[in-house]
Amino acid sequence: MMKFVSHSEAETEAIGEKFARMLHPGDVVAFTGGLGAGKTAFTRGMARTLAPDAEVSSPTFALVNDYGGKVPFWHFDMYRIRTMDDLYSTGFFDYLEAGGILAVEWSENIAGALPEGTIFVRITVDGENERTIQIGSEPIAEKEGKKG
Ligand SMILES: Nc1ncnc2c1ncn2[C@@H]1O[C@H](COP(=O)(O)OP(=O)(O)OP(=O)(O)O)[C@@H](O)[C@H]1O
Ligand SMILES: [Mg+2]
Repeated sequence: MMKFVSHSEAETEAIGEKFARMLHPGDVVAFTGGLGAGKTAFTRGMARTLAPDAEVSSPTFALVNDYGGKVPFWHFDMYRIRTMDDLYSTGFFDYLEAGGILAVEWSENIAGALPEGTIFVRITVDGENERTIQIGSEPIAEKEGKKG
């Protein structure tokens, strides 16, 4: 497991940019962490490595953004996904088979559908500009004691 502390949005982007250099075609990157944690910022950094021409924006309404790239880079936002039918309708399972790299915001909502080998990126808000970013092969347990 890797752990970073970020003190600014730019620093989170830089961590995402470096992290993306270690990825391979077919990798799934699953974010956890609440509203405004920095998932989109981290993804913007990833895109600097994976799809430098892309304009990263939150796919909250489109649900998936296609950034192109030498290895295709796709950005999902599962905030609104409630059911397996919802998830199928995003095309998620087709994208999984397509050999690109997926960044998935609100992966909590599709926990049961994430493939083996998923890389988890958990971002915790520690202060206005401070974030802890943990990267590992398993979902990192909630510390806040939120009840599901
Ligand atoms: N260290 C930091 N890293 C990332 N973002 C930070 C940091 N400090 C402050 N911020 C601010 O937090 C916000 C992060 O927004 P971002 O859209 O990346 O979050 P998100 O996790 O994608 O949220 P959402 O769940 O709404 O999609 C931005 O307003 C950014 O400026
Ligand atoms: Mg976001």
